[in-house]
Amino acid sequence: MESWANLDFHLDLSGPGGLRHRLTASLREAVRSARLPPGTRLPASRSLAADLGIARNTVAEAYAELVAEGWLTARQGSGTVVAQRVEPPPPVKRRAVPDVRFDLTVSTPDITEFPRAEWVRSTRRALMAAPSEAFGPGDPQGRIELRTALAEYLARARGVRADPERIVVCSGFADAVRMFNRLLKPPVVVEEYGLEFHRSLWTSTVPLPVDDHGANTEQLPDDRRAVVMTPAHQFPLGGPLHPRRRASAVEWARRVDGLVLEDDYDGEFRYDRQPVGAVQGLDPEHVVYLGTSSKALSPALRIAWTVLPDRFVDPVLALKTDREQYISMLDQLTLADFLESGAYDSHVRRMRLKYQRRRDRLVEAVSPYASVSGIAAGMHAVLDTPHETAIVQTARERGIEVSSLSSFRHELSDDDRTGIVVSFGAPAFPRALASFTEVLAACC
Ligand SMILES: Cc1ncc(COP(=O)(O)O)c(C=O)c1O
Repeated sequence: MESWANLDFHLDLSGPGGLRHRLTASLREAVRSARLPPGTRLPASRSLAADLGIARNTVAEAYAELVAEGWLTARQGSGTVVAQRVEPPPPVKRRAVPDVRFDLTVSTPDITEFPRAEWVRSTRRALMAAPSEAFGPGDPQGRIELRTALAEYLARARGVRADPERIVVCSGFADAVRMFNRLLKPPVVVEEYGLEFHRSLWTSTVPLPVDDHGANTEQLPDDRRAVVMTPAHQFPLGGPLHPRRRASAVEWARRVDGLVLEDDYDGEFRYDRQPVGAVQGLDPEHVVYLGTSSKALSPALRIAWTVLPDRFVDPVLALKTDREQYISMLDQLTLADFLESGAYDSHVRRMRLKYQRRRDRLVEAVSPYASVSGIAAGMHAVLDTPHETAIVQTARERGIEVSSLSSFRHELSDDDRTGIVVSFGAPAFPRALASFTEVLAACC
């Protein structure tokens, strides 16, 4: 005999009305939504009644009603079957968007290059070496092993004055911004070009002009207390912050007792010279250093770090409630091993060479149509061109997504530069570049 339990199917008999009514409604809904597809044989009324612990008559009456309504058919000898005439649910309507063949909009690293084998080795070592205490509830500040490894790495590679006690591990730059949004009085000053998503995390922002020498910190207003900047490689324009402006940012912060939030998102990736050290090194009491693994490794890891002025450590930790907003201990220990074993350095070195070659190819390929502004760094570049709209539109028609420079502009900025922001981190970049160059030829 068939058993109802063999059907992976849930009957909800709760709700108003008598038992027969509820059973009928529940079966009807299952047929209507195609959870019970046409042709499905229902269990004999006796066995369904036994499974549900109700009277056989109740089931027989529910079946009869659904047969009368046309949802089920009953034939002598072949039992009760879901009727064929039931319409399948209409397909979900999707927006008509052209197929994206190449996404060159966001400057993520080449994710096909994630160092899987080395990461596995670090995971294994970290897991075997982890003390039992590591499997407990954890420290909202981040594992001490990771903070120690970061302090050493950041001092060596980025000139950051870091002490493990001043480092707080967080789940991405955005997570850090959300914390500071609760600690700082709005509005904060941001560069007039940047990610709209990041601006939207603040209660309110005001723009600071940016040129080839980075943000114009000489214009920082004395009635504000915080500025967010990308000194190593202005995002997205690509200039490095001029030494004079580095100094004046710090002088401003001291004068107004304010804070510089230094977004060092791709500081390790400089191709024409040694990377310039972090501004934080000039004054750790007035600069918050914000780093991330999103560019060097993968944005999917969601591991970032802040190096805080002493007076901010406790307020930031107070915002990190227990067991929330912190990263899996295993990922933290793995990254600590990855840094200490030198795997991080070799991965960055290897990727630097790749990106440098890609950027060289980009500059050469686009040279008949546009010049590339900014330094040789990072994973994206800006093409100076007045044909912004035509290029974005034509590229889209051909399945290539690129961003207009104006889409990064602060709504209160009166700047009118135009250009195209192109990421060269995309895995299929050589092919994407060939197609994109055809777009430029058509538009410029
Ligand atoms: C300008 C800028 N800052 C910071 C980040 C890092 O963000 P997250 O750590 O949230 O991935 C990115 C993206 O990777 C970025 O483009």
